[in-house]
Amino acid sequence: LSHVASRSARGVSTERRQASITHQSRFRSRHENAGVLTMSGKSQNAALKKWVADWADILEPDDVYWCDGSEQEYNDLCEDLVLAGTFTKLNDAKRPNSYWAHSDPGDVARVEDRTFICSTNKVDAGPNNNWREPSEMRADMMALYKGAMRGRMMYVVPFSMGPLGSPIAHIGVQLTDSAYVAVNMRIMTRMGQGALDVLGNNQWVPCVHSVGAPLAPGQQDSAWPCNPDNKYIVHFPETREIWSFGSGYGGNALLGKKCFALRIASVMARDDGWLAEHMLILKLTNPQGEFKYIAAAFPSACGKTNLAMLVPTIAGWKAETIGDDICWMKYGPDGQLYAINPEAGFFGVAPFTSDETNINAMHTMTKNSIFTNTAITQDGDVWWEGMTKETPAGITDWKNNAWTSANEAPAAHPNARFTAPASQCPSIAPEWQDPKGVPISAILFGGRRRTTVPLVTQAFDWNHGVFLGSIMASETTAAAGGQVGKLRFDPMAMLPFCGYNMADYFKHWLQVGTKTEASKLPQIFFVNWFRRDEDGRFMWPGYGENSRVLKWVFERLNGTAQADKTAIGYLPSADSLDTNGMNINTADLQAITSVDVDGWREAVPQIRDHYAAFGDRLPNELATALDALESSLS
Ligand code: OXD
Ligand code: MN
Repeated sequence: LSHVASRSARGVSTERRQASITHQSRFRSRHENAGVLTMSGKSQNAALKKWVADWADILEPDDVYWCDGSEQEYNDLCEDLVLAGTFTKLNDAKRPNSYWAHSDPGDVARVEDRTFICSTNKVDAGPNNNWREPSEMRADMMALYKGAMRGRMMYVVPFSMGPLGSPIAHIGVQLTDSAYVAVNMRIMTRMGQGALDVLGNNQWVPCVHSVGAPLAPGQQDSAWPCNPDNKYIVHFPETREIWSFGSGYGGNALLGKKCFALRIASVMARDDGWLAEHMLILKLTNPQGEFKYIAAAFPSACGKTNLAMLVPTIAGWKAETIGDDICWMKYGPDGQLYAINPEAGFFGVAPFTSDETNINAMHTMTKNSIFTNTAITQDGDVWWEGMTKETPAGITDWKNNAWTSANEAPAAHPNARFTAPASQCPSIAPEWQDPKGVPISAILFGGRRRTTVPLVTQAFDWNHGVFLGSIMASETTAAAGGQVGKLRFDPMAMLPFCGYNMADYFKHWLQVGTKTEASKLPQIFFVNWFRRDEDGRFMWPGYGENSRVLKWVFERLNGTAQADKTAIGYLPSADSLDTNGMNINTADLQAITSVDVDGWREAVPQIRDHYAAFGDRLPNELATALDALESSLS
């Protein structure tokens, strides 16, 4: 790369180089010897090379490294992270080729209040997003970006969201000064030379990321560099750009995930007639060998990973995994919606994942995985609340302090995560990387609701399903900063992830439904595994038992399960839900499969308030559906 040479000629100070050499010694010596640091991968894309060079001039890294995505590179970067104190290598006999990281306590979750959609007009960002005028935001961030990578390496991370070359996939390139981000991106996406080859001379989604912690000459780095007081997660939807600053954690920093695959992709999807959604994708096969693909939207930390990997409790039924967090759907030539999982790995919530709740996830992360903000045991393995019945002795908590069960705070942060390759998941479906995607027969919308919302409801039709999705509400979780357990409307589980005005997003959903014959559209269902009684006891056991609901969905699609038409949609008729061999009392079952008329009546004014925020941009179809609901409740 010519600019590296020219900046060196301009005189990147020897001290500065020296500082980063100490931090990245092994990686640097290996790759410098190989001459890789000055290569630009095998990309002939002149616009890409210029973009990288221009940013290097602004960010002033000590050097630029183009990731090729190889195993050797991954191992070298991990070794470097160990030297830097970011990673602790786990016991190879327990968890081969795996690492533990703990973050700065001020950098543990997505920061929704620091996330911005910078469209030219505020109204295009909508009431669902923080907005700043784009040129003002650019100016503020440029001031922060200037010299932000001093003393650090800039990694160029090319990646494909979706199988390489899939017509549903898209390419991005992330610049980052975090090796932690680079190695996580290798698990989470198809990262490296393959993505550059697919990109060719085309346009990519540009993603710029800095932890915002430049190093002065000789300054000791911290194990988790970040800028806790100055975080920005910024999207420019009109130019499809992402700028992130100050955080090294999860969705703030792994820009392929929430920033690209949801916020920017939702805009691309609106413009080009497809759907980019916060959904898992699973394949369900009945005892006769007939199978269907189901997508399901739930807010963060509400069990998408568990549902995607569920082990059915009903004999003869089989569930397999395609994806656990994001689903891109485009129309195929046959007029059906085909879905891919744009990701290549899982970035799942660790606490309460166990052999009982999600054995497939537990097997997925037995090797080649990264754990962030879990606890670590004396013998070099990870641990978190709910993993085992007994707490191992001599635990170190996520803040790297000795911990015993007498501690009030949990040993693992509630948003502690595992990063693990999807290919290692025992329940992964053989076709999970099929470039043409899988045809979706049903879409589930679900929130975490203690009251009112029944176990399962089938929408009357597509538009009614969009209505149900638009009134989804859920109790907040630890996946984002802020209060936990507060009820908020989270339409289609996309509130933090829709890159434009949500009223327009509803309109887009309604339009997608007009693009094919009704019989080819997925059927939409509304589900809730989280109902509780007055004492706070869960009325439905969830996890593997959710297969009973999936079976009912499957049989509704085939027209064999009975349902009763109610004010809110079709509910399972008595005995149509398979509860054979299940431990549930009749009163609970009755309560969660019927309409709580009073609860819904109370909900109507809240829904009206929720809709009011969108003013006259709210599609008429939704206002009409709400009026219809209200009158059928009276
Ligand atoms: C996630 C989230 O990390 O939704 O998937 O927060
Ligand atoms: Mn998610």
